[in-house]
Amino acid sequence: MNKTLRQAVIAGNWKMNKTRPEAKALITDLIPLVKDADCGVVICVPYTNLETALELTAGTNIKVGAENCHWAKSGAFTGEISADMLAEMGVEYVVIGHSERRQYFGETDVTVNQRVRAALDAGLKVILCVGELLEQREQGITEEIVSMQTKIALGGVSAEELKRIIIAYEPVWAIGTGKTATAEQANEVNHCIRETVSKLYGQAAGDAMTIQYGGSMNAANAEELLAQPDVDGGLIGGASLKAPDFATIVKAASK
Ligand code: 13P
Repeated sequence: MNKTLRQAVIAGNWKMNKTRPEAKALITDLIPLVKDADCGVVICVPYTNLETALELTAGTNIKVGAENCHWAKSGAFTGEISADMLAEMGVEYVVIGHSERRQYFGETDVTVNQRVRAALDAGLKVILCVGELLEQREQGITEEIVSMQTKIALGGVSAEELKRIIIAYEPVWAIGTGKTATAEQANEVNHCIRETVSKLYGQAAGDAMTIQYGGSMNAANAEELLAQPDVDGGLIGGASLKAPDFATIVKAASK
């Protein structure tokens, strides 16, 4: 598999962490550490930090993302944020379908698809998360699950729009647990996702698709995971909250 056909992207997913002053300190530390990166660098931050992140990263190589968006353009959805609201701010990326949204907030494959649709319509780039539960891995149905999640999420997405999507494979059992998938496990599932994309959109589209791994990726294990032929970057939770650790992962992806 030719990795030069696609860009590696390291994205931080801060989740529900960092007040504005804390965000400012982290981003200020991060900017000089990643300025020479030879990969995409994205920080996906809480809504309340978006403006701070956009201001501080203007003119740098760091792109800013949100962690979710609603599927409707506007309306009576108390507490939600629309894709248009993000796009208007200058936000470039949005994470959709994170397992924590699926697990704690009733997100389904169908609502993930609706949110992907809304994000694309607003001109955003999407980091689409898929991944199996521990029980599903133990039942040997990991590939069916991620392939189904991918197919449903991409329903109605054109080949041209697909170029604005990154897929992040995040095995749920590896998130925040310190249990990383082995490099081989990560590569195997990423490869299966690529084949799913190739079946839907053709080989060239599959080859061009950036597919990240996420789940306890850190400064110590990033290099091995990122060396895999089908692992094109990472979606980083805990380790994205420490500038030196995140920068080490960015460096590993820049090799
Ligand atoms: P951790 O890196 O903390 O395991 O989180 C991974 C993740 O969920 C990124 O979206």
